[in-house]
Amino acid sequence: MAEPKENVLMEKIVSLCKRRGFIFQSSEIYGGINGFWDYGPLGAELKRNVKELWWNTMTRQRDDVVGLEATIIMHPQIWKASGHVDTFSDPMIDCKTCKGRFRADQTNEIPCPQKPSKMVSECHGEKTAPRAFNLMFQTYVGPVRDESAIAYLRPETAQAIFAQFKNVLETSRQKVPFGIAQTGKAFRNEVTPRNYTFRSREFEQMELEFFIKPDEVVEAICGKVATTAEAITGNIEHPTSNAEHRTGNPQPSTLNPQPNWGWEAWHKYWVEERIKFYEGIGLPRTTLEEYWQKPEELAHYARACVDILFKFPFGTQELEGIAARSDFDLSQHERFSGKPMGVFDEELRTAWVKLPKEKSDELWRRYYENRKKYLVKMGVAEEQASKDATEDANGLAKGQYIPHVIEPSAGVDRLILALITNAYSEVTGTDDKSRSETRVILKFHPRVAPVKAGVMPLLKNKPELVKKALEVRDRLRPWMNVFYDDAGSIGRRYARQDEAGTPFCMTIDFDTLGEKPELKDTVTVRFRDDGRQERLPIGELLGWLQARIR
Ligand code: GLY
Repeated sequence: MAEPKENVLMEKIVSLCKRRGFIFQSSEIYGGINGFWDYGPLGAELKRNVKELWWNTMTRQRDDVVGLEATIIMHPQIWKASGHVDTFSDPMIDCKTCKGRFRADQTNEIPCPQKPSKMVSECHGEKTAPRAFNLMFQTYVGPVRDESAIAYLRPETAQAIFAQFKNVLETSRQKVPFGIAQTGKAFRNEVTPRNYTFRSREFEQMELEFFIKPDEVVEAICGKVATTAEAITGNIEHPTSNAEHRTGNPQPSTLNPQPNWGWEAWHKYWVEERIKFYEGIGLPRTTLEEYWQKPEELAHYARACVDILFKFPFGTQELEGIAARSDFDLSQHERFSGKPMGVFDEELRTAWVKLPKEKSDELWRRYYENRKKYLVKMGVAEEQASKDATEDANGLAKGQYIPHVIEPSAGVDRLILALITNAYSEVTGTDDKSRSETRVILKFHPRVAPVKAGVMPLLKNKPELVKKALEVRDRLRPWMNVFYDDAGSIGRRYARQDEAGTPFCMTIDFDTLGEKPELKDTVTVRFRDDGRQERLPIGELLGWLQARIR
C-alpha cells in the first residue's frame, strides 16, 4: 500500500474529488470564486449522510436534545449581543507592492490564485500596519440601502439557538439539562481562504448548545458537584448494554449523565461523545487528537475549550471545538433584548430552603461573584453590576437561574475532507491486459459511503441478466443509494465503485438465473476493501446491507 507524500496526497485528493464528482470549484466556468466550493453527485450524498448521522445521533437517539432550523439572516442585534459586530475580526494587512490583502498572521504563504489547494510564497513588498477586518458578510434587508437596513449572513448557527432558547424550552417540554441542535450554512469573509475546502467563506456547521445548571445550583440540589474523575469512573456503562447495539447508530454514550454533574463533567462527557461519533463514522481515535486550549487562547466567552483535531495532509487542524461557554450567551441576549432568559427550577427552590444558612450564603456569594464578574467585563458600571448581580443571586432562592452551556461545534466541510483523506488509499496491481496500474480505493465507513451498493449484471447484452439486476436495484433503492452499472468489464466496474468508495457490489450472473440450480436467486457480493466475494440470496440482501450501513 503506497503512502503518498503529504502535499502530493493533497493534489491527488483534489484531483480525485473533481474527477469523480465529490467537490467542484464554485462557478468554475467563470474562473471560480475564491473560498467557495460545490459538492458534486458523490460529494452531495456523502455530506447528506454525515449530516443525517449527526442529526440522528445528537437528537433522535436522545431524550434530552431537540432540533432547530433557523434563518440565515437574523435581527442584527443578535450579532451585537454575541460580540460578532465588535470583535469577530482578523488582523489584516495590505501589500503596497502587489496590492494583495492578507491575514497578518499568514503572510508567508497564500493560496495560489490558479490552484487554491496549493500554497505559494507571497511577495516581499512593504506592508501596511495590521487593521481589524470583520469577517461577517453584510447585506441590506428591504429596498433601502442605509444603516438601518444592514443585516448579516450568520457567521455561526449557534446564536439562533440562544435567541430561540425560551421558545424551544416552552414548547418542547424539556428541562435543564437539555440541548438544542442545528445544522446549516454559515458565512465568514475569510481574508485568505485556504487549504481547499478546509477554510471556506461559505460552509456548513453542526452545532449543539447543551444547557446545564450552574455549578452553584447543582451543589444546592445535590450537596456536591462531582469531579470529572468521579463522573467518569463512577458511571461507565457495562459493555453488554452498548447502545450501538441497540440503536445501530454511531456509538452513543458509555458515560451516564448524573444530576450531580457540573460543567466540567458535562464538558468531558461531550468531548467523549463527539470522539465516539467520529469513531462510528470511520475516523478511529488514533486519527484524532484532543487539544485543550490554554487560558490565553480561549474565546472571551469560554471557560474551557477542547479542539478535536485531525491530521490533514496540510497539517493537524481542528474538526470540532467543544467549548464550555458559561452563561455568557443567554446573559448577553437577556441584556440586549430585555427579555428574561432564565429558567425556573422547582427542585432548586425546594432544595434552597433546606440548605444550612452558611451553605446558602456561600452559594449565593459564588453566584453573585460570577454574575458580577461577567457584567463588569461587559462594561456595566461597578455599582450597577453589583445591583444586578445581587438580583440574580437572590433569584436562586426562588428557583431561578440562567443556564450555562456546553457547545460541541463541528464543521461539516472539514469533516468531509477528513473522511476523504482518511479513506484514501492506493493499490498497485495489474489491469485486464496484465499492465501494472495503481488504483484508488476510498475506504469510507459504509455508514457515510455515498453509494452503498453497486448492482451489476455480469454481461450487458444478456437481457435476462439485465432484467434480474434491475429487479435487485429496484428492491434495494427505496432504502439506500445504489448504483446500477452495466458498462465495461466487471473488473473496470468494480474499480469505478472502489474509487467512489462503494463498500459492496452485487453481481448478477448465470448462477443467479439458475445455471447451477442450488445458486438460483443468489448474487455475488464483492467487498471493496479486500476484493473478497460471498454468495447471498437476493431475499436476504436488504437486511444484510442494512445491518452494515446503519
Ligand atoms: N459557535 C462556534 C463557532 O462557530 O465556532
